[in-house]
Amino acid sequence: MSFTLQAINISFTLQVLIFSSLPFFLGLLVLKSYVFSSKSHKNLPPSPPKLPLIGNLHQIGSSPHRALHVMAKTYGPLMLIRLGSVPVLVASSADAAQEIMKTHDLIFANRAKLKIAHIIFYDCQDVAFSQYGDRWRHLKSIVVLNLLSNKRVQSYRHVREEEMAFTIEKIHKAEKSLVNFSELVISLTNNVICRVALGKRYDGRDFKNLLQRTIELLGCFSVGSYIPWLSWVDRLSGLEEKAYAIAKEFDEFLELVINEHLNKKRASGECQDIVDVLVEIQRDDKSGFRLEKDMIKAIILDIFAAGTDTTFTNLEWTLGELLRNPHAMKQLQQEAQAIGLGKSMIVEDDLDKMPYLKAVLKETLRLHPPGPLLVPRESTQDVKLLGYDIPSGTQVFINAWAISRDPSKWEAPEEFRPERFLNNPVDYKGFHFEFIPFGAGRRGCPGIQFAMIINELVLANFVYKFDLALVEEEGLDMSETNGISVHMKCPIKVSATPRF
Ligand code: HEM
Repeated sequence: MSFTLQAINISFTLQVLIFSSLPFFLGLLVLKSYVFSSKSHKNLPPSPPKLPLIGNLHQIGSSPHRALHVMAKTYGPLMLIRLGSVPVLVASSADAAQEIMKTHDLIFANRAKLKIAHIIFYDCQDVAFSQYGDRWRHLKSIVVLNLLSNKRVQSYRHVREEEMAFTIEKIHKAEKSLVNFSELVISLTNNVICRVALGKRYDGRDFKNLLQRTIELLGCFSVGSYIPWLSWVDRLSGLEEKAYAIAKEFDEFLELVINEHLNKKRASGECQDIVDVLVEIQRDDKSGFRLEKDMIKAIILDIFAAGTDTTFTNLEWTLGELLRNPHAMKQLQQEAQAIGLGKSMIVEDDLDKMPYLKAVLKETLRLHPPGPLLVPRESTQDVKLLGYDIPSGTQVFINAWAISRDPSKWEAPEEFRPERFLNNPVDYKGFHFEFIPFGAGRRGCPGIQFAMIINELVLANFVYKFDLALVEEEGLDMSETNGISVHMKCPIKVSATPRF
């Protein structure tokens, strides 16, 4: 999830700033590390050698999940690195992930404090970036029980089906059947989430642009989060100013949306959007927990930041894999054909009869988890993990990308083979630690059903209604964007020939 993480992608300017400060802090650091090493008799996990001041920052580059995967081959499934002054535990096996997210889930239920997230999410009064504690527990239960419950997700069915039908229409009207698939699915998921969350589409340029800038900003590396005494670099580089500007813009927008909801006639049941539900909880105040306006705004932001990007990214990678693997495309089309039976559209009732469709989406999540390092957590107590001592306050990256390519758990892990998920109980709901694209445990993703029903409906209809082929001159580039949240670098352009 792109909202998730700070891309460890230091720009040239920042590197220059860091290195120019090196002489000032070198002496101090050498002294500090001497004092610490002489005190510590702990059995810490293996660590790669590090540089003063920046630690291992220089080694994780623009694709941290790949770089950390390579490092783990030398240092093992639990390794301790240092990003600036922050100790970071990296888990790269299913067993290590299970220890963190199941055996010691409570100890690792805190989130790392990330500066940009603080600015944008109202001092982290949201769910995703909130520190573990009473407020988080209340907000998460509101999200799980009231906003993203099975029943609520089902109640938005008409929105998804309408947006799907609208997109099919759009493709039919496309000149020479040429479509930018990436653009279509971004717009479709944005529209669904806007209507579900806010009650109507906000598909104008300004809103899309604001969302895009927010997601990009959350993927920026803030020096101050990792090297606190260099926080001034974030001010100097303009990063902080940008974050405050976006926070203000979003705040004005959300203020407007909430006021509109407060002033309209109360909606009920299936007509309620997410803001309606939150406003009602605030008014009724039954649980004794006061849901502040800023918390409502922060939750809405979570839904956009956590929900849009991750969802369409999974669809993009899926189409990329299907275009590279025509046998899988053919098998999926046959399944869709058998279920659709010439109807104008596959509807949600049909999806449970499409095991291959579900297997294709799972296999894509295995190979391309949208947040390959999940969302950083932090330990709140000293704890022993697989025989190693992990100190309180250690940040944790779980390399879900590496884990779902582990050859000891997966046969031919680099190959796209949806069949491996047929008649196989392994699922992404957080109980099988070899496959955790949505995380697991207390901090696991509450949006699984919401995301996957959109993706299933969209993919089923795309292959049912159209023959999709690459536009010859565009080719297919499966390279990844930089940073910890991973998209396809180039949009997928296809010709979509109607099948009926
Ligand atoms: C394919 C789509 C998605 C993927 C791959 C994904 C992935 C993730 C991951 C990896 C986490 C962190 C889990 C952990 O720390 O163990 C997370 C958390 C979260 N996700 Fe998702 N997500 C997706 C869609 C959504 C949607 C659609 C929503 C909301 C509508 C959503 C809302 C959240 C929230 C609120 C959290 C924070 C939970 C917490 O900290 O307690 N996600 N997601």
